[in-house]
Amino acid sequence: MRQQDILDLVCRSGRITNQIDWLAAWGKWKCRQIFEAVGRGVDVDEKTLEALASEFDQGAEGMGENPYEVWAQLRTSETPLHSDQLGGFHILSRYEDVRAAAVEHRRFISGEGILLPPMPGTLFAPLEYDPPLQKELRSPINEMLAPAKVREMEPWIRDRAKELLGRLRGKSEIDLVDEYTSPLPGLIAMQLLGYPDEDRAQLGQWIYESEAYRVTDPARAVASYHAVSEYLAAELIRRRSAHEEGSDDLIDKLLDLRVEDGRLLTDGEMLGLYLNLTFAGLGTTTGALSMALHYLACHQDAQQMFINEPAKLPVAIEEWLRVYTPNTAISRVVSEETDIKGCVMKPGDRVALLWGSGNMDESEFPDASNVLLERTPNRHLAFGVGAHRCAGSHLARATLRIGIHEVLSEFGQFELQSPSAGVWEHHGFEARTMSHLPVRRVS
Ligand code: HEM
Repeated sequence: MRQQDILDLVCRSGRITNQIDWLAAWGKWKCRQIFEAVGRGVDVDEKTLEALASEFDQGAEGMGENPYEVWAQLRTSETPLHSDQLGGFHILSRYEDVRAAAVEHRRFISGEGILLPPMPGTLFAPLEYDPPLQKELRSPINEMLAPAKVREMEPWIRDRAKELLGRLRGKSEIDLVDEYTSPLPGLIAMQLLGYPDEDRAQLGQWIYESEAYRVTDPARAVASYHAVSEYLAAELIRRRSAHEEGSDDLIDKLLDLRVEDGRLLTDGEMLGLYLNLTFAGLGTTTGALSMALHYLACHQDAQQMFINEPAKLPVAIEEWLRVYTPNTAISRVVSEETDIKGCVMKPGDRVALLWGSGNMDESEFPDASNVLLERTPNRHLAFGVGAHRCAGSHLARATLRIGIHEVLSEFGQFELQSPSAGVWEHHGFEARTMSHLPVRRVS
């Protein structure tokens, strides 16, 4: 197979371009009315709420900074609401509804894409496949990212974190996103997927640009995404020709994998896996790390506590994931007529599962709007739930724990450069993150 054939198969530049056009068109304040009503303390009646929900778009301007009031309004409705934006979709905003839909993967399917707006192109694998094939595709990933395997990776995750922080010696003011939270997950993904050492710097730069500039410089993001796709196509050709059966790394295991009737994976499936694995942990881990470090920059007492008692970090990380959920939503398509509390959903309808809103639901999390660093239990939805639950959650947790610990021990205590420093963003419908986090050392 020629590289161009593979590229034709997978390249999502069309998808990205569509999304950018869409972002530009909808990057207005679509939720302004809801905010204004809440701000004025107006009691929103059912009819008004329905009208406002019809304008709901999670990627709207301001949702990076503060999605909470909009989510709270949506949750006041017992019956799931409907938005007319992005082709139209039902909105699941309450914890129990989001969870139930994620678990019912036969009724709410992923195989028709999980992005809003729905866009054509090769599907990420296993993310946009349905069981039973989805289960088969992720079994080698589960094996490679199991807790014991992640423990073996911890020393090199720590080394990467130390390397990045080592470059900051002598600097008292830095942007933690540019210098640390953005490059770190990229370096980890590249090592995990066995990209050649000499390609890492260039590939890391492209991956970073295709995520970081999606909103601020779309042309640059698209060009970099194109470059990554081309690189992955060439990499697949290289790995296939060098492949020896029974070798041990993740890509080799995937090349050996037999599914369904014993067949090997198609190029489309292989590239879907490459894309999913290359991108899945990047924006999400950057977002989670940045938002947790923003919290710490604003709470010197918490920094001191974790310096003295690092064993408390894992529980706190779960709470930051709950309140600052990086993957705020995902969508599904309804496969059979379904009635959720009076909302009738037809086959083919799209449904948005708002993980972020579910994570703020008082019925599951008492005192939900406060960050309680010792909260247990904490059954948050940040890694999803059900068949598609995040395959990289152990790696993500280890990266967050090591990443935060290393900042506190290598960089020392820090604070925001100014009270409003830090740029929050919502990338498309699905991702909440920070694009800048300017901090300075506290002497
Ligand atoms: C804080 C970081 C992360 C967050 C918040 C996160 C979140 C999620 C969520 C919510 C899903 C479920 C999507 C759905 O239900 O449709 C998911 C799936 C997935 N994640 Fe993550 N993720 C993170 C890091 C990672 C990392 C580091 C990797 C691997 C390198 C990874 C690999 C995957 C894969 C392969 C899937 C698809 C699983 C499937 O469809 O069976 N994730 N992630």
